[in-house]
Amino acid sequence: MIFNFKEENIDFINADFEIILIQNKNLEKYTQSQELFKISKYKGEGICIDMQNKILYSELKSLDYEDIRLAFANAYKALKKLEIQSIKTKCVVGQCVVNSFNAMIQGFTFGAYEFDKYKKEKTQGKLENILISKDEINGKTYNIEEARIGISYGQIFSNACDFAKDIVNEIPQIYTPAKMAEDATNLSKNDPKISCQIYESDFLEKEKMQAFLAVNRASIHPPKLIHLSYKPQNAKMKVVFVGKGLTYDSGGLSLKPADYMLTMKSDKSGGAAAMAIIKGASELNLDIEIHSIIGATENMIGGNAYKPDDVLISREGVSIEVRNTDAEGRLVLADCLSFAQDLKPDLIIDLATLTGACVVGLGEYTSGIMGNNEDLQNEFFKISKKSGDLATILHFNPYLKELIKSNIADISNTSSSRYGGAITAGLFLNSFIRDEYKDKWLHLDIAGPAYLEKAWGYHSFGATGAGVRMCLSYLLYLSRNKK
Ligand code: BES
Ligand code: ZN
Ligand code: ZN
Repeated sequence: MIFNFKEENIDFINADFEIILIQNKNLEKYTQSQELFKISKYKGEGICIDMQNKILYSELKSLDYEDIRLAFANAYKALKKLEIQSIKTKCVVGQCVVNSFNAMIQGFTFGAYEFDKYKKEKTQGKLENILISKDEINGKTYNIEEARIGISYGQIFSNACDFAKDIVNEIPQIYTPAKMAEDATNLSKNDPKISCQIYESDFLEKEKMQAFLAVNRASIHPPKLIHLSYKPQNAKMKVVFVGKGLTYDSGGLSLKPADYMLTMKSDKSGGAAAMAIIKGASELNLDIEIHSIIGATENMIGGNAYKPDDVLISREGVSIEVRNTDAEGRLVLADCLSFAQDLKPDLIIDLATLTGACVVGLGEYTSGIMGNNEDLQNEFFKISKKSGDLATILHFNPYLKELIKSNIADISNTSSSRYGGAITAGLFLNSFIRDEYKDKWLHLDIAGPAYLEKAWGYHSFGATGAGVRMCLSYLLYLSRNKK
């Protein structure tokens, strides 16, 4: 998609179609389509297409960024079915110019995204050219430079999300740990500011990553530990992202029921997000050193599989009683978090489709933010709210910690209670965080929003790129506000 910001009045711009945003359901303003509104019983909600005048009306519920995203995504979804190549639109400026333009671009690109690789009939049309007039829908004046920055941020954020979505949507037959390593390598080849190191099984053995290795054991595909780094010269701090890269989670010997196994190609969403974030951060030219550590493996069954009752010695030296092989993500993350702390970061953020309990507790739209540092969680939450990624804080407490005690090892990989599973999983990870990093760590459980079986908002079916926008927004915030 090509976005062209034109410092011109909308009437002087030529395009196949125009988008007009309807605010407050105020239809009187649009005299030329009054008749059409009446015939189609349009009340100012949703979408209405005037084929004669080549206008698409889309409702803008408010100037909130999320409503800006929705208005343009809905417009694009309707327009892509038509045989048109270009559209023009006025812009919308809400609270902040940069965020508003960023949201507008996200709306278009999210509206356009579809994973149709395996379909003979593609639904994607030819609509590529988006012409944005400097005219603001309410005649608001704003700084043109900020608008241009917002458009470029929007493209970077959206491309990063598309990048993550393509990884997550790809089928498990093709998307193996080796493929994930290949994608990471290509990311570094395409961007000279990013470097990539792939570690194989022998390295994991040498590093004593027995928890990670156990999860991989029954898979015919060797595990990969992926380390991407972006090191700008003027870096003011170091942030490490850790991603759960389960290219397939069958549950292992504690096998998932058929209905629950379906969609488990999406268990690599945390890893995909960690890759997308470093890509976006480099394109934003952030003055922050960033690392992405991804533990890529499958969780399968077989004679060689790790078992409930096994005890694993993790890289941190903490012994883990395996009580359920389907709680595999925390095992992989335990060793990856250990590796990540050796990089001496100022902040560690892990992203994982970690628990079904998080989906039950928060619903399918929202991620859980966990950690020990309330100020950090609150700050992250505040930034996430504007990003389009929905998230909420889940607080730790010492009573839940009791539930992951083991009789034969230092810790159990499952809780002794059915309740509070998202937090007990977070607490499990917390026991692999060294004292000096306790307050510098955030855990994001993205199990709910990472993959959709039913489209909602401006998201289409399948992967959503959950976590990418909130983390990129937080990095931008850090870059502007710290030291
Ligand atoms: N990958 C799943 C969590 C998940 C569930 C992600 C639904 C996305 C949608 C994870 O590995 C898992 O199976 N967790 C178990 C843990 C349990 C055995 C303690 C779960 O949540 O049921
Ligand atoms: Zn699992
Ligand atoms: Zn899993």
